[in-house]
Amino acid sequence: MEQQEQYDFELLRDLIWEKSGMYFESTKRQFFFRRLTARMNLLGCQQIKDYYRLLRYDRSDAELAELLNLLTTTETYFFRNAPQIRSFEEEIIPALIKQKQAAGQAHLQIWSAGCSSGEEAYTIAMQLLEMYPSLDRWKISIVGTDVNTQVLSKAREGVYTSRSLRDTPDKYIQKYFTRDGEYYRLNDRVKKMVNFRYGNLMEQRDASLFQNVDCIFCRNVLIYFNVDSCKKVINIFYDSLMKGGYLLLGHSESLYRISQIFKLVKLQHSLVYYKE
Ligand SMILES: C[S@@+](CC[C@H](N)C(=O)[O-])C[C@H]1O[C@@H](n2cnc3c(N)ncnc32)[C@H](O)[C@@H]1O
Repeated sequence: MEQQEQYDFELLRDLIWEKSGMYFESTKRQFFFRRLTARMNLLGCQQIKDYYRLLRYDRSDAELAELLNLLTTTETYFFRNAPQIRSFEEEIIPALIKQKQAAGQAHLQIWSAGCSSGEEAYTIAMQLLEMYPSLDRWKISIVGTDVNTQVLSKAREGVYTSRSLRDTPDKYIQKYFTRDGEYYRLNDRVKKMVNFRYGNLMEQRDASLFQNVDCIFCRNVLIYFNVDSCKKVINIFYDSLMKGGYLLLGHSESLYRISQIFKLVKLQHSLVYYKE
């Protein structure tokens, strides 16, 4: 029985890994099965093998999307990793503006990859509005992508609880949100600056939509991937970035033993990756 359960786990685990990059160690087996059985019960599916076939051969990937909604960890909040956010504001944006001006360009493209419910992408939008008002004459594109369709809906809605705002400076709350009971509604001006779309980092067709990106935020996503998936995604990021572009990972993530393709740069408040 134990052996069969481990076999079933590995079968499904490897499929999820292949399709999403997320890799569940055996220690996560109980969590994995709890979520999986919840979904199978809802579908009235009793055999793991039947569910496997559904995931493997459904060309629309509709069932995969449902399962990923249950398996992904989507914890996020505004102004997460304050030192890095400060580097972005004080060093990265000025450097990018300088590069663009030297090239006679007035556009910026920023990608929040694995954006969850949008807090990261909207933090970027608010920072640009607050600190660089002169950029309102530029073409600014901020795009958030994720495989979890539920969090993407939440991102588009732009309504949050105080939990999402726990690290947000007061002046931003006062200026960019409208209180509605226990909820905080993000103002339209900020919402309009960001587009959200479904995008699987393991799918070349989704990622290749991005070209000449100036800065990629992919924070707290790769911690759920194994080394092989990370390598694949990092190459995609490299191809998507323009020369002189930046890649920002989560505070516990690094490319050590994964890739040397980017230059690691020490900014005043954090370490970031740079495409030379
Ligand atoms: C912990 S959240 C991080 C959110 C935000 N970047 C942050 O740091 O606060 C991780 C997000 O990555 C998404 N994710 C996981 N695998 C993905 C994949 N293959 N493609 C796109 N997004 C993925 C999850 O759905 C989840 O919303």
